[in-house]
Amino acid sequence: GTNLGVVSGVIEPIDSPLKIFVLAKRKINNIFVAIESYVEESKIFLEACREDVLEADAFNKVVNLAERVSNIREVLRRDHMKVAFFGRTSNGKSTVINSVLGRKILPSGMGHTTNCFLQVEGSDTDEAYLVLENAPDEKLNVESVSHLANALNSEKLGDATLVRIFWPKNKCSLLRDDVVLVDSPGIDVSPNLDEWIDKHCLDADLFVLVSNAESTLMRTEKAFFHKVSEKISKPNIFILNNRWDAAASEPENLDRVRKQHTDRSISFLADELKVVSRSEAPERVFFISAKEVLIWRTQESPDSITPTFPEGFQHRYFEFENFERKFEECLSKSSIKTKFDQHARRGNSIIVDLSHLLDTINKNATNLRIKKSSDRKEESNRLEMTNQKMQMLTNEVKHKIIYIVEQTEQKVNLALKE
Ligand code: GTP
Ligand code: MG
Repeated sequence: GTNLGVVSGVIEPIDSPLKIFVLAKRKINNIFVAIESYVEESKIFLEACREDVLEADAFNKVVNLAERVSNIREVLRRDHMKVAFFGRTSNGKSTVINSVLGRKILPSGMGHTTNCFLQVEGSDTDEAYLVLENAPDEKLNVESVSHLANALNSEKLGDATLVRIFWPKNKCSLLRDDVVLVDSPGIDVSPNLDEWIDKHCLDADLFVLVSNAESTLMRTEKAFFHKVSEKISKPNIFILNNRWDAAASEPENLDRVRKQHTDRSISFLADELKVVSRSEAPERVFFISAKEVLIWRTQESPDSITPTFPEGFQHRYFEFENFERKFEECLSKSSIKTKFDQHARRGNSIIVDLSHLLDTINKNATNLRIKKSSDRKEESNRLEMTNQKMQMLTNEVKHKIIYIVEQTEQKVNLALKE
């Protein structure tokens, strides 16, 4: 996607698959800015037009087009890539999210820690803050994880409640690239799974099942994802076998256990849920230690005492990075498809409607001109000008914008293939 990196003269390196989403979003927004200006121009022109060339509700129609454009721009502004993490209590969901973010943002610990939904998203401010569901306009300060944990415990929140954590974008590249991460309470401690799915899963672009490699995939975990895939067609699901560092203490069982978990995970994704093929499924299963990655990424400075990890740390770390790459690719591709395909189609339909409208005026003006050409020269000239102006607008709208939409689609498709 070298071309896609050039936005209004600024060249940005595409160092992560997520950038493709960010750039595609900006491009599509620019297209809608162009469409908006054509709609506005047409509106001004219609206001100046003589009434006998206009259809009865032409003006309402163009106002309606302007509304459609501004609605799409509003949705586009809020479009992001949402990843939701699920699994049993203490499997390490919060630790995985912290590892991915490269800092301890979410509270984690032994026992049942997370007691409601926590959504981490980027903010343009320098300070982190919380927003609770029942007071969306109130920003609560958070300075540290312990503050956050206290803030969350002091509130009596239901387990389906959503707390949004806004974290400065300049401190985290993932958040800068429009990714939103959602942490959940253990699926084994809630009777409200249906409510969870309706409230938090329907708009998720990707799911991560954090499983415990010391035991195995549990019935509750499987049942939850069966429910999810009943409501969403082919959800993107990754399985993390976490706590894989524990396996290092039993090297004689390592290969056997890994094979057992791999077989079960693949069979769950491909045969039971049927969300991927058997050949794609291995790309969705990873063996990691979130705790190690977090310790490694949050150590004070390079020359502080290097933490010591059990045998195989490097390999587990590499596998975590591999997971991040695969999940970023899948997330970006899938989000572009589901979100921008729809915008492009709606954009096209707005353009088609606008050019119909302009075409009609053009035809009316032509007819009137032919009828009146015998009457008065001056009148005929004015209509001739209407014709010309209309023709110009119609051509511009048709060719320029449709061309841009096609181009963007091609570029996005190209970028996705690479
Ligand atoms: P709840 O919020 O209670 O549902 O748990 P959770 O899934 O968010 O687990 P959390 O991240 O709080 O981790 C639970 C405990 O497991 C913490 O003490 C972590 O340090 C520890 N832990 C997480 N990942 C690993 C891992 O890969 N290896 C080891 N040894 N411990 C881990
Ligand atoms: Mg947790």
